[in-house]
This record gives sequence, structure tokens and C-alpha cells, in this order.
Amino acid sequence: MKLKRLLSTSIQEIRNFNNIPSDSRIFSLIQPTGKIHLGNYLGAVKNWKTLSNLSHLENKCIFGVADLHAITIPKLATELKEYRYQAIASLLSSGLDDSQCILYFQSSVPEHTELNWYLTCITSMGQLNRMTQWKSKAKQGENSTITDDKVLESTKAGLLCYPILQIADVLIYKSTHVPVGDDQSQHLELCRDVAERFNSIYQTDYFPIPKTILTSNKKILSLKNPNKKMSKSDPNQNSCVYITDSPEAIKMKIKKATTDSIQGQIYFDPEERPGVSNLINIVAGIKDLSIDETVNEMSHLKDHKQLKDYVSEIIIEEFTPMRLKYNEFMNNKDYLTSIVNKGKEHAKEIAEKNIKEIRTKIGMD
Ligand code: TYM
Repeated sequence: MKLKRLLSTSIQEIRNFNNIPSDSRIFSLIQPTGKIHLGNYLGAVKNWKTLSNLSHLENKCIFGVADLHAITIPKLATELKEYRYQAIASLLSSGLDDSQCILYFQSSVPEHTELNWYLTCITSMGQLNRMTQWKSKAKQGENSTITDDKVLESTKAGLLCYPILQIADVLIYKSTHVPVGDDQSQHLELCRDVAERFNSIYQTDYFPIPKTILTSNKKILSLKNPNKKMSKSDPNQNSCVYITDSPEAIKMKIKKATTDSIQGQIYFDPEERPGVSNLINIVAGIKDLSIDETVNEMSHLKDHKQLKDYVSEIIIEEFTPMRLKYNEFMNNKDYLTSIVNKGKEHAKEIAEKNIKEIRTKIGMD
């Protein structure tokens, strides 16, 4: 019952961002695990750009790079450093403008980790155990549980506790809206629960209960296996188109995308035609059209080859300017550093004020 209530009130598939109140705080992060792919772009980052472009939400948006989350899967220091640059270059080349939003590295604001501890103390192990993402990251089966001896031994605490850090990220800025893809919905459901618990334990209404903003492109599927999401960690890299892919690479990946054997007219049917429907969804996301409008625009396409040529062109057109900008940004790391340093100052200002208030709420001042 409670879950139903939360789903109906807190998850919004918002088409008209103008309805978001001007006193909102919009927040989201992306992990620095390489360049941004189509799923990240259409499920999250494109919306970040749209939101931060709205005059009534200018300077209400905080976006950044979740570098503390990235080390739940350890990396070499040189690799992490490069990935952090790549992530911020990807965000800038996707069109985010640091004069309209804060862009920063999560680790540069230590208040996240202080709040993480306070929230760890009020989150149950059972709730963490029920999260699905740590299971795939720890390479455990969907039905595995932390109480299995083998799983317990082989799973790092950071992977299990990861959602609490994510909740701290959101709440340290008293965020009201979190634009993410579908795979983050469960973490944000937990976020609302923990925010409510904090407010209840400390008899306050300090934390707003943040809403999840999902778009119709909340789940972009793998090009090779349209039963799972597009993911950077997929061993088959043909399943994933990156914003930095060359036109040739994009054409090749779309050409090899799994479709079906249904001949003739292209139509949207995620059950019967998951591969084709995924391609239609990608075009809808890039062109900002509904599925019906997109299918209408595609009515002249007569077969899979024509569909794939069309989809490749649309992606290439969208990503080519980004790829060129990305290369420029990556050649100017001083500039990237100056952007995140400026972002850090602004983010810290908000986080320092809030953590002082939070310490007072819990008697730690
Ligand atoms: P990450 O880095 O995996 O993904 C960044 C964003 O991209 C979305 N996304 C997708 N959307 C649609 N289709 C897909 N195939 C797809 N793949 C990824 C994700 O939903 C996400 O919005 N834990 C987060 C980062 C994070 C965060 C936060 C997000 C850390 N703290 C606080 C929001 C608020 C993550 O790993 O995202």
C-alpha cells in the first residue's frame, strides 16, 4: 500500500519540465566509468541539459561525477584520474553549461561522506540486501542474499552500502528532484524512505522527500540483447553506442543490432519486437518525439535495412558535434580542472551550510 502511494506521488514521468516549481533543487550524478553512452545520454544527461536550460531552474541544478561510487569496483589511480576527466568532458560536450548549473566531482565535497555515515546508522541491512544493483555488480545472481556465506565473503561492504552514499549525495543538497534512468528507481525509493526516517527520528521536516524524474527513455536497451539495459560494463561492446564513437563505428553497431524476422512495416511492440522498439525509442529520445509521432515519421521505412540506416543517421547527427567537442575538452585538462574547481566552491557552500544544520538536528554540533 505504502509502496503504491510512493510510486504514484514520487515517480514522475515528466514531459513538461515547466511544471517543476522554481524553488526546487535538481540533483544527479554519473559514475566516471568511461565515456557516456546512449543510455546515459537519453535516460539522464539530455534531461539534465533541458532542465538546466530552463530559466526558472537556472542555478537550481547540481550535476556531477560520482567518483566515490566508482571505486566500489577498484581501479588503478591513473585510470580513475583519466575517467574523471572523461566524465566531465562528456557532460560538457553533451551540452551542459557551467554557467547554468553546478558541475563538480563528488569527492571534492567531503560533506557527502559525513552525511553518508549519519544515514548508514539509520538504514537497515535488510533494505540494502533487497537492492538489486549490488548483486549484478558483485556478480551474484538476482536471488542471492547477503546472508549466504559465499556471497557474504565475496561482496565488499562498499558495494552493499553504495545506495546510502547515493542517498547522502541527494540529501546533502536538500534535493527535491532527481532525474535518472529506470535502473536508479529502486535506490531513489530507498532514498525517500531514509529521508522520511531521518525526519521522523529527529522530529523534523528537514529533508524534502525527493521525486524521481524519469522520462519515456528511462531504459535504453542493449543493441545486442534487447532483454537487458545498455551498459558500459557489457563485455560485448557492440551493444553500446558512445557519444565519442565515430560515424563508422555507429553505423557498424546499428547494422549489427539484434532485430527480428518480421518483414515489412516498422512498428513499435516491445514484447514482440524488442530490438526494433528499442531503435524506435532511441530515435524518439533524440528527436524529443512521442513513440506515435516517431513511428509516424518512420512510416516511409520499408525494412530493417532502411530502419537501421535511418537510426544510424539520426545518432550520427546528434553525436558528431559532441565527439568533436569532447576531443577539444580532453586536450584542455586545465580547462576541465577550472570547471570542477568552480563547481566545487558552489557545491561546498550549500553542503557546508546544510551539514551544520544536520549536525544540530542530531546533536553533533
Ligand atoms: P550511472 O553512472 O550508472 O548512470 C548515469 C545515469 O544514466 C542512467 N542510465 C540509463 N538510462 C537509460 N537507459 C540505460 N541503459 C541507462 N544506463 C544508465 C542511469 O539511470 C543514471 O541516471 N548510482 C548512479 C550515480 C549516482 C547518482 C547519485 C544518481 C551516484 N549518486 C545520486 C542520482 C543521484 C549510477 O551509477 O549511475
